[in-house]
Amino acid sequence: MVNVIISGAPGSGKGTQSELLVSRFQLIHFSTGDLLRHEIAAQTPLGIEADSFISKGNLVPDSMIIDIITSAINRTCPKNCAGILFDGFPRTREQAVALEVMMNGRGTPVSLCIDLQVPERELIERLLTRGQTSGRSDDNLETIRKRLEVFEQKTKPVNEYYQELGKYVAIDGTGTIEEIFSRIEAVLKGK
Ligand code: AP5
Ligand code: MG
Repeated sequence: MVNVIISGAPGSGKGTQSELLVSRFQLIHFSTGDLLRHEIAAQTPLGIEADSFISKGNLVPDSMIIDIITSAINRTCPKNCAGILFDGFPRTREQAVALEVMMNGRGTPVSLCIDLQVPERELIERLLTRGQTSGRSDDNLETIRKRLEVFEQKTKPVNEYYQELGKYVAIDGTGTIEEIFSRIEAVLKGK
């Protein structure tokens, strides 16, 4: 069983690479952003609250996200599944610690954190292009800048946490989607 985190700045390609990883390695994929956007689309109380953070480029509170991911895992992941792919989670050190405790408690520890590295100018270009069709409330220049700032302040420390645990791998997230996937695949094949 391989449990993988795909990490990286907004627009670094987490969702794009997750799709390929799921079909190649039969992993169960959790994108906390997608889970929250489903709640927003359904206009649930949780979704309405989450949207007030997301549309401004802020993170939703740790307690909310930890509850969502814990119940999603307990609901859909048998302990003998091929593995879990976490996309956009954890995003704070507190979330990372909670995930370690949960996965170690299940006897299925996190194997690796893969960090997709892309220069800021390219991130902004990708997100602005996507914003022309995505309908996402956070794909506009002002909110993109805020998301990048929050990433620097709150999410980069998560990389240090996995470095300390010896579970961190940085990957060049530029080039074609296929080139990037080959880099990730090479790392995972060694696991
Ligand atoms: P989330 O949905 O996770 O968004 P994000 O991190 O901002 O990242 P994106 O989904 O925008 O980008 P991505 O890295 O998936 O890239 P993609 O593959 O789409 O989170 C949204 C919000 O929800 C957060 O801001 C926060 O408020 C909240 N949230 C979520 N998780 C949370 C958590 N754990 N804690 C607290 N709050 C949380 O690619 C981007 C674009 O680039 C696409 O158009 C794609 O086609 C294109 N592209 C991809 N690869 C390439 C390539 N190689 N070359 C050219 N274009 C490419
Ligand atoms: Mg995404």
